[in-house]
Amino acid sequence: MTTTPTSVPTAPADALGFGQVFTPHMTTMRWTSGGWERPRLRRFENLALSPATMVFHYGQAIFEGMKAYRHPDGGVRLFRPERNAARMMASARRMAMPELPEGDFVEAVSLLIDADREHVPAEPGHSLYLRPFMIATEVTLGTRPAREYLFLVIASPSGPYFTGGFDAITVWVSEDHPRAHPGGTGHAKCAGNYAAGMLVQQVAAEHGAEQVVFLDARERRWLEELGGMNLFLVREVGGRQTLVTPPVSDTLLEGITRSSLIILADDLGLGVEERPVSFEEWRSGAADGTVTEAFACGTAAVVTPIGTVRTRSAEFVVGDGRPGPWTTRLREALLGIQEGTAPDRHGWMRTIS
Ligand code: PLP
Ligand code: COI
Repeated sequence: MTTTPTSVPTAPADALGFGQVFTPHMTTMRWTSGGWERPRLRRFENLALSPATMVFHYGQAIFEGMKAYRHPDGGVRLFRPERNAARMMASARRMAMPELPEGDFVEAVSLLIDADREHVPAEPGHSLYLRPFMIATEVTLGTRPAREYLFLVIASPSGPYFTGGFDAITVWVSEDHPRAHPGGTGHAKCAGNYAAGMLVQQVAAEHGAEQVVFLDARERRWLEELGGMNLFLVREVGGRQTLVTPPVSDTLLEGITRSSLIILADDLGLGVEERPVSFEEWRSGAADGTVTEAFACGTAAVVTPIGTVRTRSAEFVVGDGRPGPWTTRLREALLGIQEGTAPDRHGWMRTIS
């Protein structure tokens, strides 16, 4: 593999969208039968790959998403990077790719952050989005796991994922195309899962929705998650409020934001139920007032309220269609820790020095 220079787009902080501009460097690590080489810091450059490189044909490609934050004390910190490292290893196992040990993963990410430290935005709601990923680089059309891989980390100074910031989004429920099926790859962060969701994302956009909610493949009845985010509902029965979210399975990506919010909800005194939730429970609950809030969560999206839900035949609004009180409280609790304005009681932040 060779690289060629490319221009690095830059933008002022107030014009940063999500994943539009990149820092001047990247880290790379090659894997061959001899194992992993040491991480290399290099300029952010185009990759020159043979058209017969395996990733282009059979899609052995996995990725992660994580953020580095500039704290008020000037320090730059990562949120739970060991979780991303562990998930990348799990994705690698599912896709018959080599596992990158946690120490090497964190070292490769830290090397890049350290080199491009000045590009970590300081504005609230902004961060350095990091995209570690791995591709099969062996040149052959043979259908078997590749014997050469490249792991890279690139970084993008980013603002909010949704242009509306914390405004409630509209979601489209995919009744025809599930995202994952039992025994499949739904629990892995592999590129093909996202490719398979693009068609429905296009349909959602045609119906004025920003995101897709996927249902289970067997019964097309149970809520799973969105294309790149997990899903939570707030239920209120007899004056008692509970956070409800579908359980982890092989058809769901176990979000690090999801598991952190479950802990923070408990800190805030909000009960949490991880259990199957049907679309009908959401629809009827929104109608009779037992489902008071809904939100999507993920590294890129943080906590994003869901206001309107659309299907081919129906549409309903959750609560008053605006960000609910628990959605707001949970978002603030999480962002406070991530941005360094609240105490890190769970020891989630890692300083990059
Ligand atoms: N679900 C999917 C399919 C995702 O791609 C992501 C994003 O990584 C998530 C959920 C949320 O995961 P996390 O909170 O770790 O970013
Ligand atoms: C993330 O939240 O980091 C993701 O990877 C989701 C999406 C941008 C694909």
